[in-house]
Amino acid sequence: MTYTMEHYRQSAQALRARLGSFVPETALILGSGLGFLADEVEQPVAVAYQDIPHFRPSTAPGHQGRLVFGLLEGQRVAVMQGRMHHYEGYSYEEVVYAVRVLRLLGCRTLIVTNAAGCVRTDWQAGDLMLITDHIKLFSESPLRGENLGEFGPRFPDASRLYTPRLQELARRCARQLDIPLREGVYFYCYGPQYETPAEVRAARILGGDAVGMSTAPEVVAAGHCGMEVLGLTLLSNMAAGILDQPLSEQEVLDAGRAARGKFSALVRSCLRELEHSA
Ligand code: HPA
Repeated sequence: MTYTMEHYRQSAQALRARLGSFVPETALILGSGLGFLADEVEQPVAVAYQDIPHFRPSTAPGHQGRLVFGLLEGQRVAVMQGRMHHYEGYSYEEVVYAVRVLRLLGCRTLIVTNAAGCVRTDWQAGDLMLITDHIKLFSESPLRGENLGEFGPRFPDASRLYTPRLQELARRCARQLDIPLREGVYFYCYGPQYETPAEVRAARILGGDAVGMSTAPEVVAAGHCGMEVLGLTLLSNMAAGILDQPLSEQEVLDAGRAARGKFSALVRSCLRELEHSA
């Protein structure tokens, strides 16, 4: 499937028809086990992905597959309760489709969250990590193909994808809340199998601090269309080979449940303090 501007506009138009005068400013993508934050949105208008033209359903466990619009800490938000992943069989263009539609709808900031494996042996499962950068070397770009100039340039800069001033905001909020916040590089692996221990060692040597199967494609697309990005990771488990035990999906979802309080507090505090750039 190759999307044209017309596809994006039709999706945005269908959502506008549902939203009336409400214009979202901040998009939030909620990762595995973290979807609960969408239930905290006030004055919610929920739209299932299957009811939006050209959207694809989200099939991953712990991903509900709907957009929830409304207010969170006074911000007008569009919350993706569940995302699309390449491993579900979607092209990267499909994986990032919703981000581009939300940009057209008015979102200028993206807060992206995920659960990921912890590559660092001196950190612990359950820790939160601020994403300072990512490595996505071994898969194609979501921007491959004809460039849609209305979104951004053919060769966009990627040196500040994770917006420095939003990183600073998250550090400040975590400090105020007394929530320890690690900082590091998200190493993208497309899954759906978890990594082998050798792959985790390779990720570590290359500079990764966390490994996961999402986020990097959406952030590339968000950067392309001029959005500012804040990335937060729940290190839901130690990455493969660090502990002498197999990884499981249940472990990831349980970690999301256990981190609910601090995760929600941090995201809410970032929203409260967030000022959009002009
Ligand atoms: N690897 C990749 N993706 C993940 C992991 C992991 O260990 N944990 C949660 N998502």
